[in-house]
Amino acid sequence: MRIDILTILPDLLQGPFSDSIMKRAQTKGHLELEIHNIRDYSTDKHNKIDDYQYGGGAGMVMSIEPIAAIIEKLKAERDYDEIIYMTPDGELLEQAICNDLSLCKNMIILCGHYKGVDERVREHYITKEVSIGSYVLSGGELGAAVLVDSVVRLIPGVLNDETSALTDSFQDRLLSPPVYTRPSEYRGWKVPEVLLSGDFPKIEAWREKKAFERTQVRRPDLLD
Ligand code: ADE
Repeated sequence: MRIDILTILPDLLQGPFSDSIMKRAQTKGHLELEIHNIRDYSTDKHNKIDDYQYGGGAGMVMSIEPIAAIIEKLKAERDYDEIIYMTPDGELLEQAICNDLSLCKNMIILCGHYKGVDERVREHYITKEVSIGSYVLSGGELGAAVLVDSVVRLIPGVLNDETSALTDSFQDRLLSPPVYTRPSEYRGWKVPEVLLSGDFPKIEAWREKKAFERTQVRRPDLLD
């Protein structure tokens, strides 16, 4: 999968992709990640990428010209399945969206700032708008990092058996059951007996029951 991220803060996006599973996805060839600085596409002599909003009011708006220039350049080079805009008024990110996006070959992710982007960018270039939660971040970069991580780990071959995405919380609309490792007793706090029993059907039944109970208490909306 190829992902192009458009940002005014490219340095902010270096960290999340230079470690662990996201780094391995790139070195193994599953992910080709390109981070583009929107400022490089400004034709203004001070590299300005924003302006005052028409009609007045506080807050700057990201201008259409540099964003259009970069999107059109990328679209001339290859076809994109999705051009995503990270915004608090987008569709709330859920596992089902991550699953769908993991089938894409190429996608662009645009990170907003200030009051957002000129609405004409959204009308004419954007194919999907995503929010990572009902709160406002300083910019779309952290949301883009969350989106990329949640999608790329689903690409076959990115995770090994040990970290398999199939047993993740949400994949079957249930939260994950509790997990334990050695020691079997710590300060008198014991690991549930069933997990030490070696009786795998019983262990599986216990895990399903715990996953269901946990979901009922913490996220009853998932069971609706
Ligand atoms: N940009 C600012 N807030 C955001 C959010 N909650 N999700 C995605 N992008 C954002």
